[in-house]
Amino acid sequence: MRFHVLTLFPRMFDSPLSGGVIERARASGLLGIQIHDIRDHSQDRRRTVDDYPFGGGPGMLMKPAPLFEAVEAVMAAIPGGAAPVVLLSPQGKRLTQRVAEEMAQQDHLVLVCGRYEGVDERVRQHLATDEISIGDYVLSGGELAAMVVIEAVARLVPGVVGSCESALSDSFTTGLLEHPQYTRPAEFRGWQVPEILLSGNHGQIARWRRRESLRRTYERRPDLLESAPLTGEDREFIESLRRL
Ligand code: ADE
Repeated sequence: MRFHVLTLFPRMFDSPLSGGVIERARASGLLGIQIHDIRDHSQDRRRTVDDYPFGGGPGMLMKPAPLFEAVEAVMAAIPGGAAPVVLLSPQGKRLTQRVAEEMAQQDHLVLVCGRYEGVDERVRQHLATDEISIGDYVLSGGELAAMVVIEAVARLVPGVVGSCESALSDSFTTGLLEHPQYTRPAEFRGWQVPEILLSGNHGQIARWRRRESLRRTYERRPDLLESAPLTGEDREFIESLRRL
């Protein structure tokens, strides 16, 4: 999968995308992440990319022309010449695991990072095919949001996350929060690892984990239980929690 990021701050992407599974997948060619400086598409010698809002108001807006030309240059280099153009903005659709799964189906994704007070509305209407927000808070620009999208989507590309780190049991892929996990020592400062995990009984361990997953989701994110795939036994267990 290939990500094409358009930004005014290319250096922001240097270290977050170096390290861990992303770096390994980039080195193997499984992932490509190209960072493009929007300023390279400005149309004057001063490399202007922003301007005052018509009608007045505070701050500056990103001009449409450098953004359109930057996206067009990227598209010209993509086989087939088309890919989703995702504008990162607090006004977008909320990023969820489902949204990341849909994006992971694409061969190419163009991510446009807004800055200043916003972008000219024609970018939203005629250039972006999608608009994504990573949460209900305002960042100074879309760069960190684009990195979050890359990380969430890249992990879903087959081969990026090795089988021992499998993404399949991740929270949200199962629709539930993860059960508690422990490593050695079995006793640390007087705190014991639950006995069942030391028992070697894999059937019982799986059942305990499922229940702890359900318990944690019930306590912290009960909204997730409405759409998570649940068995009859799961439902009975949740009922028993409700009766407590
Ligand atoms: N740009 C500024 N804030 C943002 C947010 N919450 N999500 C995505 N892009 C943003």
